[in-house]
Amino acid sequence: MPASHSPASLDLFEASLRIIAAGQASSGAFVASPTFSQYPYAWLRDGAFVAEGLDLAGRLDRSGLFHGWVARIIVRSRAGMGRAMDRARRGQLPAADEYLHCRYDLDGRVADADWPTFQLDGPGIWLWSLAHHEHHGGVVAGEVREAARLAARYLAVLWPLPCADAWEESPEHVHTSTLAAIRAGLEAAVSLDRRLAREPEVATARAAIAGRLSTFRGAFTKWSGSTAVDASLLWMAAPYETLEPTEPRFAATLSRIESELITADGGVHRYREDTFYGGGAWPLLTAAYGRVLLRRGAPGDLERAWAALRWIERQADEQGRLPEQVADHAFAPHRVGEWRARWGESARPLLWSHAAYLALHVELGAHERETEAGARPEPEARPEPGAAGRKDLAAP
Ligand code: BGC
Repeated sequence: MPASHSPASLDLFEASLRIIAAGQASSGAFVASPTFSQYPYAWLRDGAFVAEGLDLAGRLDRSGLFHGWVARIIVRSRAGMGRAMDRARRGQLPAADEYLHCRYDLDGRVADADWPTFQLDGPGIWLWSLAHHEHHGGVVAGEVREAARLAARYLAVLWPLPCADAWEESPEHVHTSTLAAIRAGLEAAVSLDRRLAREPEVATARAAIAGRLSTFRGAFTKWSGSTAVDASLLWMAAPYETLEPTEPRFAATLSRIESELITADGGVHRYREDTFYGGGAWPLLTAAYGRVLLRRGAPGDLERAWAALRWIERQADEQGRLPEQVADHAFAPHRVGEWRARWGESARPLLWSHAAYLALHVELGAHERETEAGARPEPEARPEPGAAGRKDLAAP
């Protein structure tokens, strides 16, 4: 249902921080959504992106708590991860009591649910987010540093295995977006501990993954053999920054995303065949698109990045809660009803949507501009390419 009220940007910024804070357990875990029946768990992927948004908003205390929670899980899982690595070296898939799960309950116990749990992007995104945390002044020490080394060694061995993607689908494939997350994670781990670069399995994986990113007619695809594009590929350029937006394969991917996955009002969809809640548009992908544009900095990109921010704001309800997706321009409108009948409306609030909003808001400098202007600003200047994402805000 379209939101009837769109709070001013500053309100949504504060509401986002409040919603994320309320969704953080004392363990440090972030619940995916406090209200949606299927999302009472803490995903590594969601949490790592939430932590990034908090770093950018100056809430290093909260992102630090999350990293401590992940580190405890990883250190505790060391023996199982070792067995998973032994199996992977023999070309076998690891068992559920060996691999790191994609989500846990808020106390860090393996969550009991019916969804695929083997997803290698999560630890990759976590490593990337952890390095981001340190880069923004967070402390990464002791057990957290140890967990980062364990996660890097684990990914360096398991990366060629098929697993469910960022959308928890198609576990039989090796997904390009997952490889991109692992790649970002390994680079981040090496930046945290240079000695990892000299470990043979890490060195081999870093070199090999870059050659395994599958393409069709020059643009990245969902997996090798697929011709489809997926908006999660945006993360390569923003926020991972493992590729420049102008890199030819990424540029070709971006133009496919723009022509195939962005509908009339500017929201970004996951992929063309998506039927989950009808395959609507996702605020968190729309934010990633805006962040890619900021990094590219071509004529008109700044205006389009502001339009992405405004699109997200229009999806907030009167309590400033953002959903996972909106169905206004769904790719499969006839499939929306079945999901609503099963689980109710799309998850709202989704913490990751709020974090993505915070990140785009900070990178646009929306906070400063709106505080100074007291009104909605018009974009004035093009940002320096590469300067986006490197700006901190004081804690609210
Ligand atoms: C999404 C995942 C996400 C999970 C929790 C799933 O529907 O596809 O990307 O991690 O929800 O938000």
